Amino acid sequence: MRTIELKTATRTSRVHVGEGLGDLSRWLPAGRCVVVTDRDVLALHREDLPACPTLAIAAGEAAKSLATVEELYEALLDLEADRGTFLLGVGGGVVSDIAGFVASTFLRGLSFGFVPTTLLAQVDASVGGKNGVNFQGYKNLIGTINPPQFVLCDLRFLRTLPEAEVANGMAEIVKHALIADAGMFAYLEENAGRALALEPAVIERLVGDSVAIKSAVVAGDEREAGERRKLNFGHTLGHALEKTLGLPHGEAVSVGMVMAGAISVRRGMLSRKGFDRMARLLERLRLPCAAAAPLERVADALRRDKKRAARKLHLVLLAEVGRAVVEEVGLEELEELVAGHPEILRPAAAGGSP
Ligand SMILES: NC(=O)c1ccc[n+]([C@@H]2O[C@H](COP(=O)([O-])OP(=O)(O)OC[C@H]3O[C@@H](n4cnc5c(N)ncnc54)[C@H](O)[C@@H]3O)[C@@H](O)[C@H]2O)c1
Repeated sequence: MRTIELKTATRTSRVHVGEGLGDLSRWLPAGRCVVVTDRDVLALHREDLPACPTLAIAAGEAAKSLATVEELYEALLDLEADRGTFLLGVGGGVVSDIAGFVASTFLRGLSFGFVPTTLLAQVDASVGGKNGVNFQGYKNLIGTINPPQFVLCDLRFLRTLPEAEVANGMAEIVKHALIADAGMFAYLEENAGRALALEPAVIERLVGDSVAIKSAVVAGDEREAGERRKLNFGHTLGHALEKTLGLPHGEAVSVGMVMAGAISVRRGMLSRKGFDRMARLLERLRLPCAAAAPLERVADALRRDKKRAARKLHLVLLAEVGRAVVEEVGLEELEELVAGHPEILRPAAAGGSP
């Protein structure tokens, strides 16, 4: 088992990564605990959950709403939860985002922890303290920054994960290696097949390395003033593709990373060899390097992105494999760069997609 500490202004949070962390109830603090999960995770893993009152929300992104938050507040009132109640979120990123938000706001704050059950939640969503819900079509518009007391990454949960969910987590793992750790990237190159097969020893190392990288970045910049932006590598363009093409998150981020890599090469930063290594690894992990995209709509989505108050945005580029830099890019320049890479974003008519 590997334990990674995340020290922030408000607390030290510990993330434990191990194949099977045993009876989860032994990790809970003394006192009352309430589990928050989703109905699919409950159906698959009921016997793995600690014996506590359990609140199950609907599965999927649509449940990440203020309506679900209210539902949980009401259930906590019914259970007569008090300031001593500990909330344990067991599930994917939707559950950790919502459980963290409810715990941070109910009675002005309960203690809480997470048992992430998707690869994406283990390597990304459960780490870093951001909790929140979507509002009026905007993702994560309402939320808090408040880290959990602990996170338990028990890899046994991943055995029931559908392939598409594995791909979502894998894209974030590649992102972490690309922005911060050339050694991890080389390890991924050597073990891509074993990683895809979710071999415990390989996945344990990759989850641990990812958590360590995200924790280090967040510790230096909890509120996203600088360094934390590097975690957005592939995501600015990825979100635009997610919105316009409805691509799954992992696939969109994968194409977004290829795009950002191509821009890095064009700007004379990343070498062609580095770019090719990135593209080859993504392909071996069955992640796409190109998409058929209606360029006008992608540009539109970039323009409308809620984070883009000004005409300039911060785009994460690669100086080399394992080192990211944040550069200011004008929106027009970005649109030109996007349009200038038809090998990655093929005009929709040619590709036949929407
Ligand atoms: N707070 C953050 O820093 C942060 C970072 C990244 C992503 N997120 C958020 O995380 C969410 C995405 O997380 P996600 O990809 O885990 O999605 P998710 O929570 O919707 O889970 C995906 C699906 O997998 C199912 N599932 C969960 N565990 C399973 C298991 N072990 N076996 C089989 N099925 C299982 C779920 O029921 C769900 O249907 C988004 O809302 C995103 O905004 C938050």
